[in-house]
Amino acid sequence: MMPLLPVAFLLLLLCLPEAPPASAAAGDPNPTPWPPQFHAKLVMDYHGNLSVADLWYDWPGGRNLHVTRYQLAADAPFYDNEWNNGTSFFYTPSRRACHSAAVGVGILRPDWLRPGAVYLGRRDAGGFDCHVWAKADFITYYEDVKTKRPVKWVFYTGRIAYVMSFEVGAVLEDAAWQAPEYCFNKDGGIAETAGGHRDDSFAPWSVL
Ligand SMILES: *[C@@H]1O[C@H](CO)[C@@H](O)[C@H](O)[C@H]1NC(C)=O
Ligand SMILES: *[C@@H]1O[C@H](CO)[C@@H](O)[C@H](O)[C@H]1NC(C)=O
Repeated sequence: MMPLLPVAFLLLLLCLPEAPPASAAAGDPNPTPWPPQFHAKLVMDYHGNLSVADLWYDWPGGRNLHVTRYQLAADAPFYDNEWNNGTSFFYTPSRRACHSAAVGVGILRPDWLRPGAVYLGRRDAGGFDCHVWAKADFITYYEDVKTKRPVKWVFYTGRIAYVMSFEVGAVLEDAAWQAPEYCFNKDGGIAETAGGHRDDSFAPWSVL
């Protein structure tokens, strides 16, 4: 099975019905909303398949970008560029390969975690004292009690993202968000190049 892309999962959460509010006890802490714009550096571990990723989240811009480098990958980096209009582009510049998807939903809202999140209590995460929430059996999310920054999140597939740095307010320049020309046809339509990163992971979207 192909690993699901992290942001694809987060987007998937938007499609799920919210858990009954009764599951949240009064007095439980709430997750801190994401800042409208940030840059995070992530170390990802998918059952031993390691990667580092830059995550650029830009809610006012309606866009979200992961730039991922798998361990020792000769064709790195791989871009996962998601827009609030529901179009996502996946491309590998070293191979001029592109795949796009109409995912049908936009990017995560800054407060995406809060509706339906179930508080699991306080746990240590690599030396950080964290509040922990689970959402819809898809994700477990660790937030530093002291600084309120995310420390790590774990997808139900076993993919773990460790947050190595979290720069609030950092914005990537416009030019870096432009999907490359090989993602488009001559007439401006969206092209699918052979060898583009086509991920079976999108299957779950279509069944929900
Ligand atoms: C890790 O996963 C990525 C994405 O599926 C893949 O391209 C890469 O080859 C994998 N790395 C290893 C060492 O298997
Ligand atoms: C969504 O926005 C991107 C970036 O501006 C654009 O390339 C794409 O064609 C748009 N998709 C739709 C369905 O409008």
